[in-house]
Amino acid sequence: MNTHSAIAKIRQRGAAVLPSLLLCDFRNLEREIGKLEAAGVAALHLDVMDGVFVPNFTYGLPIVSAIRQVTSLPIDVHLMIADPAKYARAFVEAGADIVTFHVEAVKDARPILNEIHAAGAAAGIALNPGTSVAAVADVVPDCDIAVVMSVEAGFGGQSFRPEVLSKLTELRRLGGESLLLEIDGGVNARTLEQCVAAGAEALVVGSAIFAQPDYAVAISDLNQLIAAGLKAGLASSGAQEAR
Ligand code: DX5
Ligand code: ZN
Repeated sequence: MNTHSAIAKIRQRGAAVLPSLLLCDFRNLEREIGKLEAAGVAALHLDVMDGVFVPNFTYGLPIVSAIRQVTSLPIDVHLMIADPAKYARAFVEAGADIVTFHVEAVKDARPILNEIHAAGAAAGIALNPGTSVAAVADVVPDCDIAVVMSVEAGFGGQSFRPEVLSKLTELRRLGGESLLLEIDGGVNARTLEQCVAAGAEALVVGSAIFAQPDYAVAISDLNQLIAAGLKAGLASSGAQEAR
């Protein structure tokens, strides 16, 4: 899949839920992915953690490659690793359509963005709550996607931090309409609408899906809230224009 079709698929309905494969049932990964496909998700978000950049360890290349073999959904790989320069290309070759990495882990994001693009995937940066947009302003134009972390990277099931929402507006201003805005962490029925109204297009959701007995019901409820959030976002931008 080329980079733009992965991003276009996520944007198809204005904003989309991306299930985060961190709290799913890894004993039955193919079945879990089948349930998510049946629920109509736009893409999968894979949380890769190395136990160094974050105090948690999840999975790596063999799992990404196995997931690639069982789904045609776009795969959005979130690298929470200390050395993304060393591994980014390998994740594209394993099947990632989108690769994001943390700016806190690198001195210069640009060479890694270039490497991901050269390998044929969409590329972007992820910002922990404590990292300002100003700190990355120079590389945003080189990104296809920017991930605003609404929790500290490392674990699912944390509480949403609303103060990060203002970063979405700043990133939109710096990145223009083509930049895909993703929010990741603590997104659920209570927090989702404000994320969409603030401009988030890719909504990464972990525990609010995988803690539920029926993923399709959970995702359908979230999709309805997306529609409400889009309306709220339109209304507020309309109000701003009217001023
Ligand atoms: C955290 C991960 C998130 C997390 C989302 O480091 O990047 O994707 O798994 O899980 P919830 O929705 O439970 O916060
Ligand atoms: Zn993530």
